[in-house]
Amino acid sequence: MKFDRSVKIAPSILSADFANFGAEIEAVEAQGADWIHVDVMDGHFVPNITFGPATCAAIRPHIKTVMDVHLMIAPVDPYIQAFADAGADVITAHVEAGPHIHRTLQAIRATGAKAGLALNPGTPAEAAAPLLDLVDLICVMTVNPGFGGQKFIHSCVQKVTELRELIGDREVHIEIDGGVDPSTAPLVVAAGADVLVAGSAVFKGGSVDNPAPYGENIRAIRASV
Ligand code: DX5
Ligand code: ZN
Repeated sequence: MKFDRSVKIAPSILSADFANFGAEIEAVEAQGADWIHVDVMDGHFVPNITFGPATCAAIRPHIKTVMDVHLMIAPVDPYIQAFADAGADVITAHVEAGPHIHRTLQAIRATGAKAGLALNPGTPAEAAAPLLDLVDLICVMTVNPGFGGQKFIHSCVQKVTELRELIGDREVHIEIDGGVDPSTAPLVVAAGADVLVAGSAVFKGGSVDNPAPYGENIRAIRASV
């Protein structure tokens, strides 16, 4: 993975057909996705359950771009190696997931994966300040994690501005997750974000048998920024 600040669209397979992940990923990459965002939920840290390392390993061969694994689980540390072994390029953990996020980020980097730090809407930018040299990506949640299709929380945009300032010239991506569409994407890109996760806004109207809408949806987000 080479670092750059160009805008990258990362469709979340949370909004894909769960019975057909491999084909969905291939379709959305063929339609222009830059990264694939993989939402892991445990029913404990967030009020929803998705899937774990075995599913990540199974979909890995279908991903030609970047496998961006967002862990909404607590605890995190016992599972880091399993997600790294599954082939994750980026492993993101939440600052709110436990008392030892510093150790968690070190452990992620020790696997060779890029380390991401996610901040819930209720967590200030300052929470990332002591960790800036340990992270490759900061994920700003613009909805409360757990479900796709929620409304973008506008008060989070200011946090992106603050993080961009804190990051300075470090090679750290700012990723936005939740409620990204052509109306909200320009706000966060103007504030300094470069990775845009989008679930419902990418997968709406399309399917594996009719993938053209995926491309139209991706191009609409790209054109908006
Ligand atoms: C929410 C997930 C998101 C989600 C975004 O907990 O982390 O990645 O899929 O979905 P949309 O784009 O529909 O808000
Ligand atoms: Zn996510």
